[in-house]
Amino acid sequence: MALIFYLAVAGADEPIVQYDTIVVGLGAAGVTAASTLAKAGKKVLGLEAQNRIGGRVNTVPFGDGVVELGAEWINGQYSSRVYDTAIQNNITLLSQNLAMDVYKSDGTRDNNELVKELITYCLALIEDTNTEEDSLGAYITRKLKQHLKETHPELLNDKDFLKEFLALMDLTVDNFKGSNSWNEASTKTDYRELEGDRSLSWHRYGYKTFFELLLNTYQGGPGLANLDIKLNTEVTNIVWPQQPSTPVEVTCKDGKVYRANNVIVTVSVGVLKERHMTLFTPSLPSEKVNAISRLTVGLLDKIIISFDKPWWPVSQNLFVFLWKGEDKKKVDKEDLWTTKIYAASTDMGASNTLTLWTSGDTAKWVETIPEEIVKRKAFELLQKFLGANVTIPEPTGMVRSTWYSNPYIRGTFAFDSVSSVKYPNSRADLGKPLLDSAGIAKVLFAGEALDLTHFTNVHAASESGYKEAARILASSEN
Ligand SMILES: Cc1cc2nc3c(=O)[nH]c(=O)nc-3n(C[C@H](O)[C@H](O)[C@H](O)COP(=O)(O)OP(=O)(O)OC[C@H]3O[C@@H](n4cnc5c(N)ncnc54)[C@H](O)[C@@H]3O)c2cc1C
Ligand SMILES: *[C@@H]1O[C@H](CO)[C@@H](O)[C@H](O)[C@H]1NC(C)=O
Ligand SMILES: *[C@@H]1O[C@H](CO)[C@@H](O)[C@H](O)[C@H]1NC(C)=O
Repeated sequence: MALIFYLAVAGADEPIVQYDTIVVGLGAAGVTAASTLAKAGKKVLGLEAQNRIGGRVNTVPFGDGVVELGAEWINGQYSSRVYDTAIQNNITLLSQNLAMDVYKSDGTRDNNELVKELITYCLALIEDTNTEEDSLGAYITRKLKQHLKETHPELLNDKDFLKEFLALMDLTVDNFKGSNSWNEASTKTDYRELEGDRSLSWHRYGYKTFFELLLNTYQGGPGLANLDIKLNTEVTNIVWPQQPSTPVEVTCKDGKVYRANNVIVTVSVGVLKERHMTLFTPSLPSEKVNAISRLTVGLLDKIIISFDKPWWPVSQNLFVFLWKGEDKKKVDKEDLWTTKIYAASTDMGASNTLTLWTSGDTAKWVETIPEEIVKRKAFELLQKFLGANVTIPEPTGMVRSTWYSNPYIRGTFAFDSVSSVKYPNSRADLGKPLLDSAGIAKVLFAGEALDLTHFTNVHAASESGYKEAARILASSEN
């Protein structure tokens, strides 16, 4: 049973409520944990620093519908709490089978089929390699050369083509991992794909619907009785006691202090890297500090552009950009970031928008460039690659993500890098709860990065939030 008591505090206009659990951060992990506990009868407080729920999921109205600045797809069906939640609520998901087409910086589409075939070959290597200890860059380059020797030996002598193609594959890998270079990404990884369709979209519902369904606010639903939510409420410190039967104390930037039996922390690894020193009192044990510093956080950003109406071939949905070496040389230094956008893709939630993808340091840099310039350069890029035989109309708008500048996110997700895989226990170490001297969990950790095999995804974040809620429920039954 929830033990709730109210204390009058001198000078404070609100009574202090003691909660069963405080959840810090309301992304996929936090919302899954908070809703699971509240539905089980626990009194829960959710504290979210930003002015919205969703974290790295952010659906915004744009174009003639909605677009996703963060997660877009449900990456697999079995088993996924995200997929299950949609299906149980009769939401029809749509599959976006990405069919790529290759466009070149000289406006031609020479070798389109060949390049597609080679990309497909390389993409399969990203998924099926997990024993060799190497960088994906070195591994894919080696395998590709063997493959070419057997299938297209003449290409091995075409040094320009090889260089251009490898640069494209580097960017493609970076767009999967959020890495800065494919030499940073590791072939060895514990990552596992889910079964079933891996590109299901919430399309015009928007990914935000997932959170509305969990919180019972979909279509004007009343929410969850046992769950208090405070937005615009940044947590600055968490005091976790050693002494048994003592509450945790969570202090917010606005000075308010909340108490609970335990707290689930769901902030990203990027945020932990920046502020674990001040966030916890006492400081985290060295096992966790090491894990935080050893995990590698990547970066992916989107530049989304709207037009009056779609002007691209409707049968295509992924336009891959292959730069010719000589064209790249002509690009001004300050515009070099435009050569690091690997593709444009169509969006499922709007019919008149295109998403351009950036990653790593390029993405970090693009976040600092004024919007007008990003919009114009992105438009020129589309003209260069796709505009040889059509007149591309002026864009009507642009939105972009800034996942690195955002102080509450600081990156996209934790990927297995050549340096992080040297410490295979980091995810597990960070995921262990902090206990009081009686062995009761006081601070629990959840989030995308802590799922041992499905990290990076919304389904991993949700699963991890569920697991920590279940841990609390199991221990409070005794
Ligand atoms: C561009 C992009 C594309 C992606 N595409 C996909 C995709 O297609 N499919 C997929 O499955 N996944 C995708 N992902 C990954 C997915 O979005 C994440 O794995 C998932 O949303 C992470 O959820 P989380 O709950 O672990 O963390 P978060 O969503 O980061 O939630 C943590 C919350 O904590 C809050 N917070 C931080 N600090 C504080 C503080 N001090 N006090 C209070 N609150 C705080 C944050 O504001 C945030 O809301 C993508 C991510 C990005 C950025
Ligand atoms: C989903 O549809 C089925 C069949 O029409 C119906 O029985 C069920 O109540 C619906 N569920 C929800 C959550 O709307
Ligand atoms: C434009 O048309 C020319 C001539 O048909 C063709 O070679 C080229 O590939 C086309 N370019 C694009 C981007 O469709």
